[in-house]
Amino acid sequence: MSEAVVLRGIGRTFAGRRPIAALDGIDLTVRAGEFVTLFGPSGSGKSTLLRIIAGLERADAGTVQVLGGPPREAARRKDIGWVPQNAALLPWARVRTNAGLSALVNRRADRSSHPQRVPQDVDGILAEVGLADFADARPGQLSGGMQQRAALARVFVQGAPLLLMDEPFSALDEITRSSVRLQLLDLWERHRKTVVFVTHSAEEAALLSDRVIVLSPRPGRITAEIEVPIPRPRADCAADSDAVRAVEREITAALRAGASG
Ligand SMILES: Nc1ncnc2c1ncn2[C@@H]1O[C@H](COP(=O)(O)OP(=O)(O)OP(=O)(O)O)[C@@H](O)[C@H]1O
Ligand SMILES: [Mg+2]
Repeated sequence: MSEAVVLRGIGRTFAGRRPIAALDGIDLTVRAGEFVTLFGPSGSGKSTLLRIIAGLERADAGTVQVLGGPPREAARRKDIGWVPQNAALLPWARVRTNAGLSALVNRRADRSSHPQRVPQDVDGILAEVGLADFADARPGQLSGGMQQRAALARVFVQGAPLLLMDEPFSALDEITRSSVRLQLLDLWERHRKTVVFVTHSAEEAALLSDRVIVLSPRPGRITAEIEVPIPRPRADCAADSDAVRAVEREITAALRAGASG
């Protein structure tokens, strides 16, 4: 299947004394293996859209297809991996157990046939994120950045073909953040999952994404789509290459134009 997510005419209005139109007329197709970032001001409906894709929230207009069917079915098959803002690790369990947790919880789902989800070896992924020496540690013994790397390990061990990440690095300081960001870049380039990512950092969007979707606030509408032409692997061009800077400026300009338009 070449299309991982297909959104057509998605709208969502939250009822209340003053109803809030969070999303309107969202048309978006995410190809399998593509890294797409939702970028927009606070209140532009990014989290709402991510939750609709995850099947955690309903749309009140339009249609959603995820991995060839309704989101809830994909979620039931554990084909959707979710990376939260905070690592959300179990404090009493060792890093290896935490990283293997979704695989453990999903054993029952694994018994049915799963052509799409390919669970990965825990220790292999921990080594990939540089946590091999900390597999027996508890989360409390890790730094914030290491905890977030353990959370990334957990979702890659799960092996889901679609990963949804809502500002996964926003709680980290800038230096830690740029190193964990490179870790994700590296993991993604090796495993090629479909990712829908949310960030407020134009630099992060430019460095990681194949395509950046710019949204306007209330109602959230797509005001620009920016293809990122930087060749991969990108780890070498890291954060200070001119190419990344140029895309970053383009994203920021599109955000301003969308907000004033
Ligand atoms: N459960 C809800 N009930 C009522 N209104 C909601 C609910 N969830 C979101 N909204 C409203 O919908 C709009 C979009 O919210 P959403 O959280 O999707 O924005 P966002 O782009 O993720 O913002 P941020 O960048 O601040 O995380 C906001 O105006 C918000 O107040
Ligand atoms: Mg949000």
